[in-house]
Amino acid sequence: MREFRIGNLTIKLPIIQGGMGVGISMSSLASAVANAGGVGVIATAVIGVGEKDFFTNFLEANIRALKKEIRKARELTKGILGVNIMTALTNYSDMVKTALEEGIDIIFSGAGLPLNLPSFLTGKEKTKLVPIVSSGRAARIISKRWHEKYNYIPDAIVVEGPLAGGHLGFKREQLQDSDFSLEKLVPEVINEMKLWEDQGGKPIPVIAAGGIYDGADIRKFIDMGAAGVQMATRFVTTYE
Ligand SMILES: Cc1cc2nc3c(=O)[nH]c(=O)nc-3n(C[C@H](O)[C@H](O)[C@H](O)COP(=O)(O)O)c2cc1C
Repeated sequence: MREFRIGNLTIKLPIIQGGMGVGISMSSLASAVANAGGVGVIATAVIGVGEKDFFTNFLEANIRALKKEIRKARELTKGILGVNIMTALTNYSDMVKTALEEGIDIIFSGAGLPLNLPSFLTGKEKTKLVPIVSSGRAARIISKRWHEKYNYIPDAIVVEGPLAGGHLGFKREQLQDSDFSLEKLVPEVINEMKLWEDQGGKPIPVIAAGGIYDGADIRKFIDMGAAGVQMATRFVTTYE
């Protein structure tokens, strides 16, 4: 297990806890992972479901809940904290703005192409922006748009293969197809991001995700050149 860096952040344990929406990865899990040296991630999807006015005041309830969860997590850890914000969310911009205002360390954003994510930066934040992709092509489209429109290059990138729980649009028959395997996607995305590393003059760590369960899996992807891994399902059954 080697530490790695995303900009000025040093991640001692190369494990990012994947965001899990609808109340699964909240401050308690995220802070436990951060305290262990990984990156703890609060998921924003339907985060306000526990608020009294969730059904009558959806936007405000979610903003309030996200603020609370980030602040709670901050009280519980000095480690590195991220939020996961799916581009498909109807309150995407609210969630991004709130996370930035709260000074979150990292925003992870996928479930679609987060093409306008850097547009929310005011220039004062230290927050790192990390897209989640499922192909080298998606990594290129995002990097090109960010570079051309916002003069911004992703700070890291997560590549999720077909075994990731989530919303990436792989077809059932592709789950077992080696052409779509994470083992194939990781080198593809690493190669793509090398071009953008040169363009931006900064390292862009690639993080592998989807079906990674144990030390051997982690080792395999780190040996392939990934800086770290993102794991989610395994954390569902842990007691933090
Ligand atoms: C219960 C559950 C909820 C999830 N919710 C989200 C989410 O809100 N946003 C997202 O980008 N990914 C979500 N994911 C995907 C994970 O963040 C992660 O990338 C993926 O599950 C990694 O694969 P693994 O579960 O095999 O470790 C979810 C996954 C699970 C299992």
